[in-house]
Parts: sequence; C-alpha cells; structure tokens
Amino acid sequence: LTSIRYKMRRGPYATITNADVRFFESLLGSNRLITDPDECESYNIDFPRTVRGASRLVLKPKSTEEVSACLKYCNEKRLAVCPQSGNTGLVSGSNPVFDEIVISMKLMNKILDTNELAGVLTCEAGCVLQDLENHLATVGLMMPLDLGAKGSCLIGGCVSTNAGGVRLLRYGNLHGNVLGIEAVKANGDVVDALNVLKKNNTGYHLKHLFIGSEGTLGIVTKVAIQCPPLPKAVNVAFLGLASFDKVMKTYHLARRELGEILSSCEMMDRLSLDVSINNLGMKNPLTSRKDGHEFYMLIETSGSHLAHDEEKLSSFVEKAISNDFIEDGTLTNETTKVENIWSLRERISEGVLRDGYVFKYDISLPFSSFYEVVKVLRKRISDPRVVRISGYGHLGDGNIHVQISIPEYYEDVAAQLEPFIFEYVSQCQGSISAEHGIGFKKTKYLHLSKSSSEIEMMYGLKKMMDPNGILNPYKVLAEKS
Ligand code: FAD
Ligand code: MLT
Ligand code: ZN
Repeated sequence: LTSIRYKMRRGPYATITNADVRFFESLLGSNRLITDPDECESYNIDFPRTVRGASRLVLKPKSTEEVSACLKYCNEKRLAVCPQSGNTGLVSGSNPVFDEIVISMKLMNKILDTNELAGVLTCEAGCVLQDLENHLATVGLMMPLDLGAKGSCLIGGCVSTNAGGVRLLRYGNLHGNVLGIEAVKANGDVVDALNVLKKNNTGYHLKHLFIGSEGTLGIVTKVAIQCPPLPKAVNVAFLGLASFDKVMKTYHLARRELGEILSSCEMMDRLSLDVSINNLGMKNPLTSRKDGHEFYMLIETSGSHLAHDEEKLSSFVEKAISNDFIEDGTLTNETTKVENIWSLRERISEGVLRDGYVFKYDISLPFSSFYEVVKVLRKRISDPRVVRISGYGHLGDGNIHVQISIPEYYEDVAAQLEPFIFEYVSQCQGSISAEHGIGFKKTKYLHLSKSSSEIEMMYGLKKMMDPNGILNPYKVLAEKS
C-alpha cells in the first residue's frame, strides 16, 4: 500500500485477520465494532475531506479496561491504531492513513464528578464539549475552552490536540486548565495521573505528555479540568474597519479599556466573512455600507455585572469611533443576537468547504507580520482558479487562520504554497501550528518550529512510550530516515 498524493509507504505493521476481528468481538461484542466498509467510511475521512484512509475496523470501547485490552492486543500483534474522538481535527491526525484500526472514544462519555466549589470537572474522554458546557451551566460553571466544533469534538480530542479556540485569550490553554489525566499506553498499561488539585508539585507533571501529543503517546481516557465560574454578563461588539492597521489600533485600545473583562478578540477579513454571508446565507449585522468593510472584529466581554460591562464596552466603542479606528459597529447582550454574531465567525471553517478544496494554515505570527502573510500569498498566487485567499482568527492570541480555496485539488497550487508558507512563517519567528497541531499534514515541516534537540527528545519519548510505533503512525513525527 502506498499513499500516492502523499508519496509514502505503509509501515511494517501486521494486517488484520479474521482471528483479530473475533478477538475484538469477544472483547466488545459485535455491536461495538464496525467492519462494514460503508460504515467505516466516515471514520476514514477527515473533516476538511483532504485525506482518506482505508481502515476496515473501528472499535468502540466503553471503559478504560477495554481501551487497555484493545491496545495490549494490538501492541502484541503489531497492529497499528488511530485514536479518534469527534474527528473534527484539521490536520488529518484523527483519521487513518492506511488501514490502522480506529479506536473511537465516542462511547466513553460519562461525567464522573463535578466539584462546584473547587470548579473541577472530572469526566471520561469521550464527552462532547457542548454537553459538558451545558452540564456545567446548571451549576454556575463553564468550560475554559470554546470552539466552533463544540457540538462534535470530544474533550479527549481537545486535550490531545491542546485545542485553543476563542476563549484562550482569557483562560489560557489546556496545559494550564487540565489538572489531571488518565491515559493508556501503547502496551495497555494505564497511567493514573488523574490529579484534581490545583497545586501539586510532586515530581514530573506527566499529564503534559498527553496534552497536545495527538494520540502518539497514549490514549486519554479520563480528564480532570479546572472550570471558571459562568459569567453573569456577556456583551459582544461586532465592528467594521477599513484597514488592518486600524484593527491593531482597536485591539490595543480594547486591551487598555476593557482589561479584565475582555474574553475574546477575533478578526476576519472581508473574504472570510463572505464565507458566512455568501456560502452560508447569513446576514451581516453591519448595514451602513452596501459593500461592507475590509475587516471585521468580534470583541466579547464576560463579567459579573451587566451594566458595568455594558458601560465599559460602549465607552470603548465610542473612543474607537472618535479616534476614527472603526467605520461601523453594533453592540448586544441579547442571547440570540450574541449567538448570531458568533455564528458568523465560528461557521467560517464549515462554510469555506463549499468553495471546493481548502488549504488551511493555522499559524502564530508576531503582530508586526500577522496579516502580511495573506498579502504575500495573494501576490504569489495570482491564479484565476483560486476562489479566495483569506485570513481570520484569534487576533488576541497572535494566531491567524489562512485559507486558500480552489474548486478541486491542484498539485501545482499546492506546490506554490508548500513549503513556502511554512518557511515564511519560520523566518518571521512564528509557529507553523498555533493550535491545530502537526497531525499527518505537517510532519515534514516540524523542524521549522522545533529545534533539532527538541525533535530528538520527541523521538526518544515516542520510543519509550510506544516502542513498536503502533499509536497513530505517520502523525507528528515523520519516519526517521
Ligand atoms: P479528533 O479530531 O478526533 O482527534 C484529534 C487528534 O487527537 C487526533 O490526532 C487523534 O488521533 C487524537 N485523539 C483523539 N482522541 C484522543 C484520545 N482520547 N486520546 C489520545 N489521542 C486522541 N481547534 C482549535 O484549536 N481551535 C479552534 O478554534 C478550532 N475550531 C474548530 C472549528 C471547527 C468548525 C472545526 C471542524 C475544527 C476546529 N478546531 C479547532 C480543530 C478541532 O476541532 C480541535 O482540534 C478539536 O480539539 C479536536 O477534537 P476531536 O474530538 O474532534 O478530536
Ligand atoms: C477556527 O478558529 O475557526 C478554527 O481553528 C477552525 C479553522 O481554522 O478552520
Ligand atoms: Zn482557531
């Protein structure tokens, strides 16, 4: 087996036999494994529909013990596996490349404990992020992360990618918010690091090995997470601006004026918002200009006093207007309006797929070169087949998502983009992945954001945790030549 587009060969793994299937049937029962090729299809394809694996077996364990038994067997038989949660990952880390066995975590979805006073939630890895959010709201808490995929992504998938999202600006990333983890190693051993204390400095912090390692070092089965109080007041400002320079000035003003209540600061260029308007039929709430604005910002505040927060946000917007930073804006705290505004931003990822094939880049850049990359790419690729080259993202975290869409995959467009964009980002002292991870797509470029000594240590850890390399092969670390 060779993946033609990716020019790579299958690793030296065993091929699934009938005896293997019988073993898993006896372990899980026939209704918790899938062998039908049609039913396997959705597990084989990634969300952006860019990589297709050929797995013929999906396992659905319901407990840590079952995950452990599956991995122990696979390790002994040298069967490669691909851990999968909501399959919303954007770097093809969650789908098989060849015939790896998919271990789907969807059925491990129990909430185990909610400590209201300490604000600590303990749950199985297969809980849907939105379900956790809804559950916590009933006790006045919230999840410290929020992202457009919340209706489908599972907390174990989020932890395994160290997902960022639209609240990172306020609450920080999962390396800080995850207190403890239970995970299963490749050989089936269970690592109980399910700490629930906020402070616990007793030696190595092993949980970090599993946060962001994209299923290459173990399968996360349980998570304990620090949850902030649910804010009583949420206000949103949606702004239209004429230039990126004014976006930066407005961001600076927002930091100064909104201080501790600022909970999100997102930006979109015109072509990004067009995805929601033209591809998804949503409405732009800013109507003063028929032809819209060059840039948009979504600024959210969360706090405990509605009138106080409202006053602060209005005063910030007034200052932005009087300084001539913004062309138009709307403020709201009505739930439906807030949700509609957020949808304009959060559905870009889904809507752009209607253009055809999308090259997605998820990069960190210093503010001095944040939007420059979009301009550079537009200059480099002036090709009539290109539908759009656009930039949007988590401005407050220095993370821009660049999307280049074309009707279908063209090799020559791909060649103009890569390695160019990754080398460009590296020259600007940025990161080739701000939040989506390396997955299958960026293994060749890891050295542009990690030193050779770091990469050596990563190979060493992989060898120690998974000596037979059965866990999510072809992902994160390229095969050593
Ligand atoms: P999957 O996609 O199934 O898996 C992701 C990776 O983790 C894979 O490598 C997989 O093998 C591994 N994995 C999954 N579960 C486990 C486990 N239990 N143990 C070990 N390894 C495991 N990402 C952001 O960071 N910020 C965003 O704002 C954001 N917005 C998004 C919006 C949309 C509409 C979409 C489609 C995606 C978005 N993403 C975002 C990317 C993606 O949703 C996140 O990375 C998410 O955390 C993945 O969760 P998942 O459950 O779908 O995991
Ligand atoms: C986002 O912020 O919308 C995401 O990370 C998803 C994407 O880049 O498509
Ligand atoms: Zn994002």
